[in-house]
Amino acid sequence: MPITTCIFDAYGTLFDVAAAAREAAGEPGRDALAACWQKLANDWRLKQLQYTWLRAVADAHGDFWDVTQDGLDWAMEANDLDDAELRERLLQLYWELSAYPEVPEMLGTLKAGGYATAILSNGSPKMLQGAVDSAAVGDVLDDILSVESVGIFKPHKSVYDLVGQRFGCAKEEVLFVSSNGWDAAAATGYGFQTVWVNRAGEPVDRLPWTPKNVLSDLTTIPDLAGRL
Ligand code: LAC
Repeated sequence: MPITTCIFDAYGTLFDVAAAAREAAGEPGRDALAACWQKLANDWRLKQLQYTWLRAVADAHGDFWDVTQDGLDWAMEANDLDDAELRERLLQLYWELSAYPEVPEMLGTLKAGGYATAILSNGSPKMLQGAVDSAAVGDVLDDILSVESVGIFKPHKSVYDLVGQRFGCAKEEVLFVSSNGWDAAAATGYGFQTVWVNRAGEPVDRLPWTPKNVLSDLTTIPDLAGRL
């Protein structure tokens, strides 16, 4: 069955989550951050994701913006960064993350090719709108689907159900794209066609399912969607 609908994870997939720490580290007077920004970014991301999984299994859902702040607080403490102004700056930058350079053209090509396009993300609707607006990609997305409408984080099945509910498509018609190996794997288990965008060349997650396709960036997504 041909692909009709291309669905994208947001954070780390369309939007560069390391950009907040990287940009803040380049600002004047940020020597402490400049010395550890990559570790801070990794710790922040890992804790943010761990907290989503823990909240999902503990039936303790919270807004992804709160979870993002909890992850940052843990990461700042772990990296000996006790600086309230820096915390606010990092959160501000996270709200307006840049998209990866190939994103606008890739989404525009999909739209011109007649595909439905949307984000499916843990992010709250307001966060996602902030990122979409600052990256100026709202015109090439049909919708922004947030886990907030089901009240549980990925990879819960009810999150992936949002795609069929919104677009009325069969699972096999969906190409789901994520930079999170576990997200692409779980979406394969759900029944979507999948792409893992493995920019960092990480090992594959040892889960019951594996992503159906692996790419190093998003450039060839329209070609792949046309071939499947
Ligand atoms: C998201 C996270 C998982 O956007 O990257 O859903």
